[in-house]
Amino acid sequence: MPARIAVLVSGGGTNLQALLDHFNAGGNPAARVELVVASRPGIMALERAAQAGVPTRVLNAREMGPEPFTDSLLTVLEDSAIDLIVLAGYLQMVPPAVVEKYRGRILNIHPALLPAFGGHGMYGLRVHKAVIESGARMSGATVHLVDENYDEGEILAQRSVPVLPDDTPESLAARILRVEHELLPAAIESMLQTRTRD
Ligand code: GRF
Repeated sequence: MPARIAVLVSGGGTNLQALLDHFNAGGNPAARVELVVASRPGIMALERAAQAGVPTRVLNAREMGPEPFTDSLLTVLEDSAIDLIVLAGYLQMVPPAVVEKYRGRILNIHPALLPAFGGHGMYGLRVHKAVIESGARMSGATVHLVDENYDEGEILAQRSVPVLPDDTPESLAARILRVEHELLPAAIESMLQTRTRD
């Protein structure tokens, strides 16, 4: 039985698209995206899910308040019998009760080589700006397990890309995003293979 994935999103959803292409449309039997949860309405990620025929929910933590948000998220995950949660450009904190229940089964993709350039407030172009300002010659993407702290869970996979002398945060972001689209499905597959062997 394919692992049932929920993808949590807040924006464009190109990583979601990579998962839909790899698993749902690509016929890869290891997993399927069965649910997309968005932190706000009207985002491109929701359109991508609808195009692929994947059910969607919008749950806004700020509007709902912490407890109703946690309860609703747990309910939608349970109703869809989700095995694995993937944060792909998700800008809200996963509630502690969800982390606890799905410990070891929540993945995040971060556009830098953790443990550097991660943590609270390190998202979007801010990450790439910080990398360029630091003078680092390499950056990349990291897939890691999610725990109670931002960007601190066990690292599952990383791939590096060069930082070029004339890079802007935008050009570096675009180079890393291309790598993310390969790294994320590959990391999920290898995680699932390891589990099946255990
Ligand atoms: C990616 O760079 C991801 O690493 C970060 O947010 C971005 C999301 O892009 N967490 P997209 O919504 O998947 O296009």
